[in-house]
Amino acid sequence: MPHLFTPLKVGSVKLRNRVVLPPMATEKSSNDGFPTEELYEHYDKQSKGPGMVIVEHSYVNRKGKLSSNQLGIYSDKLVKKLSKLSDIIRSNGAASAIQINHAGGACKQKVIGGKAVAPSDAYFKDVEPLTVEEMGSIKDDFIQAAERAVEAGFDAVEVHGAHGFLLGQFMSPMTNQRDDEYGGESLENRMRFPLEIVKSVKEVVGDKLLLYRLGATDMNEKGLTVDESKVFAKELEKIGVDIIDISGNLSGSRPDKDRQGYFVPAAEEIRSVVNVPVIGVGGITEPSYADEIVRDGKVDLVAVGREQWKNPDWVDDAKKELM
Ligand SMILES: Cc1cc2nc3c(=O)[nH]c(=O)nc-3n(C[C@H](O)[C@H](O)[C@H](O)COP(=O)(O)O)c2cc1C
Repeated sequence: MPHLFTPLKVGSVKLRNRVVLPPMATEKSSNDGFPTEELYEHYDKQSKGPGMVIVEHSYVNRKGKLSSNQLGIYSDKLVKKLSKLSDIIRSNGAASAIQINHAGGACKQKVIGGKAVAPSDAYFKDVEPLTVEEMGSIKDDFIQAAERAVEAGFDAVEVHGAHGFLLGQFMSPMTNQRDDEYGGESLENRMRFPLEIVKSVKEVVGDKLLLYRLGATDMNEKGLTVDESKVFAKELEKIGVDIIDISGNLSGSRPDKDRQGYFVPAAEEIRSVVNVPVIGVGGITEPSYADEIVRDGKVDLVAVGREQWKNPDWVDDAKKELM
């Protein structure tokens, strides 16, 4: 059997194959973050093939909302509608995950109705540096968001620590120039807040899986490096993160449009220092390439985003090609 189609058991969850639908914002929610029929239809189509579907980033509080029609997870009122989403995904045979996010300094005034918050004002214009007390309240929002995800029946919760959003902003020396124990030159300080959030979220997910989307590099000589992210990944593993999902940080998710597997080398490096499964991503279109990186032990799971969005039968087509 092709390596891409070997099942993988992670904790209590069995994945039918190694293909993941990575989180991709669809802008198909209502203005206050509620799923719409269109969103349900989208995930129904998208969940027929992959082993795991990670639902797009959902905002943990209103000040962390990135775009007008982003999915929300900031209130208990959303749980019932989110349950329908996890049911749809599971009924199609995929494990269901949902990503939870606070966009921090990347938020726009016109979406959040006020100034955005960030670790420091070193990078984003016109942002409010967070106080330690405010950070505590954001941590509570992540905890409650994770509790809602579990209540809504998702098999896994993914904390968003990539693409230059709040937790990625804490990790990067370019965006985090705080002078307290949560920032500055020292990696230990920059990791502190993301790790505190992960620890707290771990306590509420119980036997559900905890994923972390790790923006492993800023792709900038002044920024976060893969070497630093290796140290961080080992800390994530110690806390009990079940799967590490590698992408970029301040570089964004699509820095290198022409090269298939552009974040696979970073994923491979992270995988060499941890024992938990690692997801690789970046411009992957060809089944034979996806199969090869699993076979060669570069990654455990392969995220195919835009290509599956274009062709929801990508997994079936890959089976025909590889088997
Ligand atoms: C329209 C769109 C929306 C995205 N939204 C998210 C998101 O909500 N969370 C996230 O972590 N990544 C997001 N991404 C990044 C994807 O998860 C993925 O890493 C990226 O598209 C590269 O994979 P691909 O080349 O297979 O599409 C988004 C990408 C696209 C194209």
